[in-house]
Amino acid sequence: MNILILGSGGREHAFAWKVAQSSRVKNIFIAPGNAGTRNVGTNIPVDLDDFNNIKMIVVENEIDMVIVGPEAPLVQGICDFFMYDPVLRDIYVIGPSKEGSMLEGSKKFAKEFMAKYNIPTASYSSFDETNLDEGYSFIDNLKAPYVLKADGLAAGKGVLILNDPDEAKSELKSMIMDEKFGNASKNVVIEEFLAGIELSVFVLTDGKDYVVLPEAKDYKRIGEVDTGLNTGGMGSVSPVPFADTDFMQKVENQIIIPTINGLKSENVDYKGFIFFGLINVDNNPYVIEYNCRMGDPEAESVIPRISTDLVELFEATAKGELNGCELETDPRTAAAIMIVSGGYPEHYEKGKVITGLENVNNCIVFHAGTATDIENNSIKTSGGRVIAVTSFGSNMKDALENAYANVDMIDFDGKYVRRDIGFDLSQE
Ligand code: AMP
Ligand code: GLY
Repeated sequence: MNILILGSGGREHAFAWKVAQSSRVKNIFIAPGNAGTRNVGTNIPVDLDDFNNIKMIVVENEIDMVIVGPEAPLVQGICDFFMYDPVLRDIYVIGPSKEGSMLEGSKKFAKEFMAKYNIPTASYSSFDETNLDEGYSFIDNLKAPYVLKADGLAAGKGVLILNDPDEAKSELKSMIMDEKFGNASKNVVIEEFLAGIELSVFVLTDGKDYVVLPEAKDYKRIGEVDTGLNTGGMGSVSPVPFADTDFMQKVENQIIIPTINGLKSENVDYKGFIFFGLINVDNNPYVIEYNCRMGDPEAESVIPRISTDLVELFEATAKGELNGCELETDPRTAAAIMIVSGGYPEHYEKGKVITGLENVNNCIVFHAGTATDIENNSIKTSGGRVIAVTSFGSNMKDALENAYANVDMIDFDGKYVRRDIGFDLSQE
């Protein structure tokens, strides 16, 4: 089978690394990929908005399966583009339809879906320019802090958490009337603040059946002890100690099963990942958000823990044959530490030479923002999140120690890492 992976981050490198281990695979292509995926398959430059170009790549390389990494092409309907094209319709696409992707593409859609199917989540109301005044009264009647969410995709920046009601009202106005987050904030969801600890749970589903993948916790803030600006993710660990059998049973019964049943009742075509962004409030799970893809940097700790052949699972997903599929997992803990460019998530420089990659051992290096400089025979930084280093350990402490020992061997000008990944989880 020839496989095309769409995307260029650590998640896509993790997919490529895992897919390469399958006996079902002949050739792997990654579009656009990075300096790391280049060692696993063939990188092909592409703009992920350009579905016609993707079609050309698929046809030219006789691709049998497309794995869609990021949310944007899914929300734009890449799955439907394949489904309705006579040349592409039989190609397996791992990713939900445009309608299914609305779980991530519209917070309002997701909240209405959860309300309809009784899925535990923060209480909410949604507002636009027609009922802005009601939004102000809603804030007056809500307890601080106030959670304001842009309805659409806003590159992870569309959520504001504010303590002052006047500031919340002024931000609401700026989101809706001044389009603070562009089109994405023409509609705004305001919801109750939930206090607890977050975790990420993933399933692979064919729209009827599902397999639950290992859960993970990611660390989104740039600064230690979860301070400073939000980032794309600074590290992850899997498994999560508080996600014990009892807790995961609640997640399955109260969240996963009603979500899959809801999609089924609405006749939504969904063949891909569902990423449940959850919060544990007094040992009860609530949904903070849905995503229609794997997490990043969660993939870098979750994928290495999957022992089952991922391509076989993807094939079963695409064919609607997940019923009866079991997942084998590695019981050890995996920790992924993200090395980022100094200044990220604000201004940072690119093009710094990365050294020490040849010295690592006892880890997997997943590239994210890296590019190959062929002329100078070097690998350079090309983004904010540069490299994720994943190590295993018999417990979290060992996994983290192994990962950090390798992180210390890799260097570039301005390198920054959070040193406290896992700080809030018990270190047995
Ligand atoms: P989202 O983009 O929906 O994941 O929101 C970004 C972050 O805001 C989440 O990871 C949470 O840390 C926080 N957040 C979102 N909604 C809530 C909520 N209702 N209560 C508390 N924190 C929230
Ligand atoms: N790590 C969170 C995300 O992928 O959205």
